[in-house]
Amino acid sequence: MFNNNIIQRFNNIETPFYYYDLGVLKNTLDACLDASAKYNFHVHYAMKANFNSKVVGMVQSYGFGADCVSGNEVKAAIEHGFNKGKVVFAGVGKSDKEINYALEADIFCFNVESVQELEIINELAQTKGKVASVAIRINPNVDAHTHHFITTGLDENKFGINTWQLNDVAEALRNLKNIKFLGIHFHVGSQITDMEVFRNLCTRINEIAEWFEDRGFPIKVLNAGGGLGVDYYNPDTNIPDFASYFEVFSKFLNVKPGQEVHFELGRALVAQSSSLISRVLYVKNGQKKNFLILDAGMTELMRPMLYQAYHEIENLSRGTEARSEGAGDISGNAAHSAPTKYDVVGPICESTDCFRKDVDLAQSFRGDLIAIRTAGAYGEVMASNYNLRDKVESVYSE
Ligand code: LLP
Repeated sequence: MFNNNIIQRFNNIETPFYYYDLGVLKNTLDACLDASAKYNFHVHYAMKANFNSKVVGMVQSYGFGADCVSGNEVKAAIEHGFNKGKVVFAGVGKSDKEINYALEADIFCFNVESVQELEIINELAQTKGKVASVAIRINPNVDAHTHHFITTGLDENKFGINTWQLNDVAEALRNLKNIKFLGIHFHVGSQITDMEVFRNLCTRINEIAEWFEDRGFPIKVLNAGGGLGVDYYNPDTNIPDFASYFEVFSKFLNVKPGQEVHFELGRALVAQSSSLISRVLYVKNGQKKNFLILDAGMTELMRPMLYQAYHEIENLSRGTEARSEGAGDISGNAAHSAPTKYDVVGPICESTDCFRKDVDLAQSFRGDLIAIRTAGAYGEVMASNYNLRDKVESVYSE
């Protein structure tokens, strides 16, 4: 991803910043569109993954819908040109203000997470003389086999309605006059690379769809949520396997005539298009440990600290593990010395502010450019100004 020209360019830019490779983003979006169009599947972009304007604008230009989890995301989606008729609004705690905003905007669908929420949406819609279209988010109790903190589809999670509450849902749907039932919604977790998980999800969706139809609630929308993972270990080579992902649903989901299949993908669309670029401020060589202290930390990219998430780390100025074999120094300096193990840490006053321990890198020096890869999803959006840090900037491929 990084040739000498780009590295030269980076040398003149103040760090830290997120670098967006719009070519990678385009290739990813092309692949997703091709693979989903084959089955007439509807893809919504999960805005929460990245709401950088350029990124969102590009995603929107592909005609995808938007999956939003706050009133402000609904607003941002509409402002970025997403068709209102393709906006879905999920979230376990929608406020009255947010619901009212979405009702006014006439969005496609509320993904409703409790019976009480259904009643409130009905009440607010009634006041406005509107009918709200809803999908019921059901907790399928399918194990996503992903990090505990990003698992959402188990009975013990706060999300969705558990199956033992479905009779209450059916009763509410019969009584609430300002609600239009569109279908059912699921989301079992994020960063899922095991296709078996999605196959299990299909089985549960089929059972639950049948449950509703048997009780006289025809289903138009089957929304399988998002969750397709990316390969954090090979940042340059792999576009997510959209073909296998959609194929699972085409094979194992029972789709009746007139029904639509919807998805809400975030990470898979944007993760690989961006890297966090930082500079080494200090090198601390200790007796037990060597530290590289960067000018980026958990305030710019929180994932490693929050979920022990793995991101490849490269020293762009001296070559990397991958490049070290006879590759010489890509910045034009003399050949680098033997790899050294570093704990790569940030400047924030928290011990947890560490991107990774014991990273093998070429011997590194103050001023070296460090790339933390595959940072396009849940990176910039989760930045904070803790320690009164500056807002992190974005730089784009030319
Ligand atoms: N739909 C719903 C209802 C969701 O809650 C999410 C993500 C998505 C779709 C999109 O999932 P994706 O395709 O991106 O996996 N901050 C964490 C990830 C949190 C995901 C939250 N929900 C991380 O950095 O790994």
